[in-house]
Amino acid sequence: MKKTFFINEKRPHDSARKHVSGLADYTDDINEPHGTLHGAVGWSKQAHALIKKIDLSEVWKSEGVITVITTSDIPGRNDVGPVFNGDPIFPSKKVEFYGQPLFAVAATTTELARKAVLKAKIVYKILKPIITIKEALKKKNFVLKGKKIQRGNPTNAILKSKNFLKGNFTTGSQEHFYLEGQVAFVIPKEDKDLLVYSSTQHPSETQQIIAKMLNQKSNSVTVLVRRIGGGFGGKETNFLTSSICALLASKTNKPVKLRLDRDDDIIMTGKRHDFYSDFEVGFNDVGVIEGLKIKLASRCGMSADLSGAINERALLHIDNAYYLSNVQVQNYLCKTNTVSSTAFRGFGGNQGMMAIENIIDNIARYLEKDPAQVRKNNFYKKNSKNITHYGMKIEDNVIQEIFNRLIKKSNYKKRYSKIKKFNLNNRYLKKGIAITPVKFGISFTTIHLNQAGALVHIYTDGSVYLNHGGIEMGQGTNTKIAQLVSNAFGLSYDKVKISSTNTSKVPNTSASAASSTTDLNGAAALNAVSKIKENLEKFIKKKYNIKNIKNVVYKNGLIKFNKKSFKFNSVIQEAYLNRISLSSSGFYSTPKIQFNKKMFSGRPFLYFCYGASVTEVTIDTLTGENIIDRVDILQDAGKAINPALELGQIEGGFVQGQGWLTMEEVNWKPNGQITTISPSTYKIPASSDIPKIFNVEIFKQGKNKENVVNKSKTTGEPPLMLAMSVFYAIKDAVASAGEYKVIPKLDAPATPEKILMSLNELKNRIRYSS
Ligand code: MTE
Ligand code: HPA
Ligand code: MOS
Repeated sequence: MKKTFFINEKRPHDSARKHVSGLADYTDDINEPHGTLHGAVGWSKQAHALIKKIDLSEVWKSEGVITVITTSDIPGRNDVGPVFNGDPIFPSKKVEFYGQPLFAVAATTTELARKAVLKAKIVYKILKPIITIKEALKKKNFVLKGKKIQRGNPTNAILKSKNFLKGNFTTGSQEHFYLEGQVAFVIPKEDKDLLVYSSTQHPSETQQIIAKMLNQKSNSVTVLVRRIGGGFGGKETNFLTSSICALLASKTNKPVKLRLDRDDDIIMTGKRHDFYSDFEVGFNDVGVIEGLKIKLASRCGMSADLSGAINERALLHIDNAYYLSNVQVQNYLCKTNTVSSTAFRGFGGNQGMMAIENIIDNIARYLEKDPAQVRKNNFYKKNSKNITHYGMKIEDNVIQEIFNRLIKKSNYKKRYSKIKKFNLNNRYLKKGIAITPVKFGISFTTIHLNQAGALVHIYTDGSVYLNHGGIEMGQGTNTKIAQLVSNAFGLSYDKVKISSTNTSKVPNTSASAASSTTDLNGAAALNAVSKIKENLEKFIKKKYNIKNIKNVVYKNGLIKFNKKSFKFNSVIQEAYLNRISLSSSGFYSTPKIQFNKKMFSGRPFLYFCYGASVTEVTIDTLTGENIIDRVDILQDAGKAINPALELGQIEGGFVQGQGWLTMEEVNWKPNGQITTISPSTYKIPASSDIPKIFNVEIFKQGKNKENVVNKSKTTGEPPLMLAMSVFYAIKDAVASAGEYKVIPKLDAPATPEKILMSLNELKNRIRYSS
């Protein structure tokens, strides 16, 4: 029998030293050929208006300006929408959000280009904008038709239930705040070909969109990405920067770089969907949900972009880890005059999960029970109550084990009672604690995206060159795939080099997203490796006349056949001299998944990631300020390829989720102008916000049941949702101000202002009811 060897090697990120020393090349670091021009974008100062006149004469005359482009310079498709139309590069008649690009310039320097765009004179006829979810709901203004899933008879079940609650809940938007902003650098080549460097999670779609814009074939555009300085979903679509840059380069036939200023980046590019939900729930005396009706509405902005898939993932995660016997979920994809909302770590799943966690938390408070127990009472079971509301059987459930282990490990019960005592004895400072579970589905719910390719070469000196369709965005996919490949060849890690993602090497790739980059591209790379191994083995068998081979082992630079052993490098040399191919492409497509979007049923996910976290907080009831005192996390990473990188993802994801739920607040004025456009107005977690005690552990018993590389599970998006416990710990602290008798009304993000408002509202309710 073949013995399986699992990699479990804490290796630093292959670029870690380069990241911190500044030696890592990002798009803006690429040497600029002589004559490179620099771009800037002119954008709309109105959220909803007809364009009466654009006068660019002063822009043309501005110092250093070489060219100005507008909608009339686009020879082909004037749209960067990935799935649907609706995202014009430059709109010709009507602007639909504050910050929408209207024209662009190429000048001799970035500063001159940025100065020039300010000189445009634009006359608008202002139309009334729709900015909020509520306004859009009222006016029935949607980007796409909503969906509805139902199981059982929730109306009846709610009527029959002993207890009933209804309410509403909001989660906020979020700015990606990647360290490296949106940037592209385009070099024209012969025959109108373009070489495009772009900070994108999706080189193949960048290629297609630029080709369509220019009315050229895809084979005339090559996109190269060495690495990006974070994407977090904000570079999954957002093809405006690279398209505008390519158009400038194509028109001038000169290399052009377009690097957005941070404010412009925040103003012009999409963010997380904020959500509003309405719910009615019926439940029994131990808090088990018997019937649930929920409406999920989100702010999609001015176009559909990825909103269909994002809102669908919210519906698919409305259960989080809970069995919902009678449920109806309905979604509303609100069209607003704000920048088109887009992918952000969690991709709608987290918004759905926050909605159900809020309901469970309210149920526990209503029944005056420990929310941890109510959560447990609602969990999916292993052999019954294991079918999701979309009909998928859950076969890999480990949530009970994780939850119970974490309760023990974090000393939850003792601390829960201790906190109650603390709150009795402290008038102004109040503590709160919460434990929340995560179950997150892995695969693109758009089934055809679950494919990947790779290209592997072995050179005659035995060194390996690897290319795959995934993007390195800091998460470490290159390191992990190099670990997989070096292990498969039995070579040391330094023998393998991963090169830039390149559309001319691996075609038609999917975005690096849905936490699936290593699962998909790692498997494609291993497929290429196995094809080369087949060539080598055939050659050795023939040359040394070996029959009956049971098991070929690649280890320590040796290839072992039965009792014979060959040096890898010598075999490569010999194979070359005997004209054996040492290069192969590889391909992978995820098995088992299928999903009927019309019926909303099937198996959209290959597997689930599970985790749980306990958070303890202190709030100051006079100021609303809050401190995270302690966090304990237990996360399933299957058989982790590289536990060091997974820990980084878990910590980073958690803190990013913490930002989303406690301090990051995107704000639009009623006229649609965004006001949170730089670090001075938009607050992200700083090092001082990291939990004072932060115990992160990978679930040691974890093992992916499915045939995923190394039996690992991804840690890309799931850890963001661990931060839900921060929010519910804050809500628990607020509840203490009403002696746990009243359910607080707290919406996310729980900023100091919101915490104060929630405390005041709670105290008022108590005052008027007594
Ligand atoms: N980690 C870093 N450092 N930078 C990123 O941009 N993006 C997140 C997550 N972790 C991101 C990150 C998102 S949104 C996704 S979908 C996954 O990484 C993508 O990478 P993976 O598929 O390799 O997990
Ligand atoms: N996740 C991330 N990106 C996507 C998905 C998804 O499920 N579907 C389409 N794009
Ligand atoms: Mo991640 S939101 O799927 O890029």
